[in-house]
Amino acid sequence: MRLDGKVAVITGAARGIGRAIAAEMINEGAHVMLTDRDGAAAKRTAHELAATGGIIQAFRLDVTDRLQVNEATAAILQAAGRIDVLVNNAGIVGVASFLETNEAEWDRIMTTNLKGIFYCCQAVLPQMVARNKGKIINIASVAAKVGGGLLGTSTYAASKAGVIGLSKGLAREFASHGVNVNVIAPGSITTDLTHRYLSAQQQLDSVKRIPLGRRGLPADIAGAAVFLASDESDFITGATIDINGGVLMD
Ligand SMILES: NC(=O)c1ccc[n+]([C@@H]2O[C@H](COP(=O)([O-])OP(=O)(O)OC[C@H]3O[C@@H](n4cnc5c(N)ncnc54)[C@H](O)[C@@H]3O)[C@@H](O)[C@H]2O)c1
Repeated sequence: MRLDGKVAVITGAARGIGRAIAAEMINEGAHVMLTDRDGAAAKRTAHELAATGGIIQAFRLDVTDRLQVNEATAAILQAAGRIDVLVNNAGIVGVASFLETNEAEWDRIMTTNLKGIFYCCQAVLPQMVARNKGKIINIASVAAKVGGGLLGTSTYAASKAGVIGLSKGLAREFASHGVNVNVIAPGSITTDLTHRYLSAQQQLDSVKRIPLGRRGLPADIAGAAVFLASDESDFITGATIDINGGVLMD
């Protein structure tokens, strides 16, 4: 198996893309530490995925709360001894137009999508550096490259562009410490998040703009995450993998 015995922490993994990454990493032999700000949902999901026979534990972790990030990281390190892979997946979307975006909304999106990654990386990196090995995978969005997506306006785009810039900076700084930092930029993927903001008709219409002729599924992201977590990607760092059905060919 491609991730045999590796300890992987995934944020925002109770549902959607994070959950699919957790499921695929378990299939590949990883010991998954499933985290989410919704602790009850994290427990439920971990219970469901454990039924497939993998090793999985759930932790409540709100990426906007530095204390909780540090405490959950300490608990995970105590339980598993190390963290080989960190997937920064937790994210929220902003749909307000720029002039309607007040400061609280700007802060809400930036704090979750960008500062949360700052907190999680600062908590997890020291033990990766000490072992001279680690993989960090950050989930951005096609919105980072085109200024907004089918979902997500300028603030969301800025937060996700920040994720790509931060990832390149970390990739550069920690390359000599054996840590690879890469990004996945999904296009429109059908999850609770898209159901929350897009009508069935809007989702159907979106297919017309997708060269591969269908909307993405969470499982479409999971395979790339496994690749970036595995030894197969040891010579890749600072890269962004676009997974969008051909909407953007960069
Ligand atoms: N679905 C898409 O079309 C799409 C496209 C591009 C990028 N993305 C990105 O992919 C990631 C996952 O999106 P999704 O569609 O699976 O979303 P989702 O809303 O279905 O699931 C997100 C999960 O993150 C959790 N979460 C939210 N804020 C959190 C916080 N502060 N701390 C910890 N957990 C938190 C939620 O509880 C939820 O379980 C996000 O970063 C999103 O921006 C999604």
